Amino acid sequence: VRSGQVSLTVNGTRRTVTVDNRTSLLDLLREEFGLTGSKKGCNAGACGACTVLVDGRRVNSCLTLAVRLEGTEVTTIEGLADGDQLHPLQQAFIDEDAFQCGYCTPGQILSGIGCIQEGHTGSPEEIREWMSGNICRCGCYVKIVRAVEQTAG
Ligand code: FES
Repeated sequence: VRSGQVSLTVNGTRRTVTVDNRTSLLDLLREEFGLTGSKKGCNAGACGACTVLVDGRRVNSCLTLAVRLEGTEVTTIEGLADGDQLHPLQQAFIDEDAFQCGYCTPGQILSGIGCIQEGHTGSPEEIREWMSGNICRCGCYVKIVRAVEQTAG
């Protein structure tokens, strides 16, 4: 088994670690860095619960090899609030009551931020399409879309 060293920035903090080449970003975040906000649903790229931003782009962290992230900036749910001030989309999820069990919520919010930054918020249908990789078993889609729409403005 081979391993490699990687330096990346996670939520504004520079980190240098030695990782097994097979370690996913999700496992690095959860097990090495203790950032358990990103969830492991399917661990196979099908549910979106593990969604984070890498250099501002949405990725399924369960499918992303940590060793390939040299020099990147990773943003997780833990990095969104500024002290007590929630990110606008976090606040919108509360205002719109856009979750039930909450398991998919971190991934939904990171995906929603990506969706807004990519400009795919022209209509509820467009938001649904561009967030279709994020599954909500409680079926909160209407409210999730509303929260994204409200934040996009
Ligand atoms: Fe990564 Fe499901 S845990 S997509």
